[in-house]
Amino acid sequence: MPTSATRTIPWVIEQQTAVKHQLLRSYIATWMNILWQQQERLRQPPHLIYVDGFAGPGEYWSTEKRDSKVDGSPILVGKVANELMRGQRKLDIIAFDTDKRTVDHLAPLLAGINTKQQAWEVGTRISRPVPRGSSISSQAGSGTITLRSSLSIPSDTRTSR
Ligand SMILES: C[S@@+](CC[C@H](N)C(=O)[O-])C[C@H]1O[C@@H](n2cnc3c(N)ncnc32)[C@H](O)[C@@H]1O
Repeated sequence: MPTSATRTIPWVIEQQTAVKHQLLRSYIATWMNILWQQQERLRQPPHLIYVDGFAGPGEYWSTEKRDSKVDGSPILVGKVANELMRGQRKLDIIAFDTDKRTVDHLAPLLAGINTKQQAWEVGTRISRPVPRGSSISSQAGSGTITLRSSLSIPSDTRTSR
């Protein structure tokens, strides 16, 4: 099996990634709707932030035949957001990965589906200060993300795969 340094980008999807995508797909729309509705009820700006600390290339070959592709997690989430977004709703996507080749593959894919002009960012290291509220700070390998928002997120939150 190729190591992360030698594998081609995109690579053939691993089974655990495919299972994770099924789980993500099964709850992400509900998660977005419930949280946006809650913010709207509380008369807060309907503004969510999705952080993917192990973002991957955004697409994978579905089988070793390499003749069809499936979406990676940031793309999957972006497409769901596009379907559900209306009015003042916003979803930021902050995606990072320690592998620059992966980031370079993902960035244009994510930009290409950003039809609602949302704040979607991809990098090996991202720092985005926002004026007030709580903060999230995560470190994964050499990747570091610092984010301030009006949402209540524990400041010691760490990214996980
Ligand atoms: C399974 S892949 C991508 C998963 C992706 N979230 C998805 O579901 O499509 C895991 C990624 O984590 C990246 N990675 C590995 N160690 C990392 C670290 N310490 N910090 C950030 N990214 C890391 C790898 O480069 C790889 O692209």
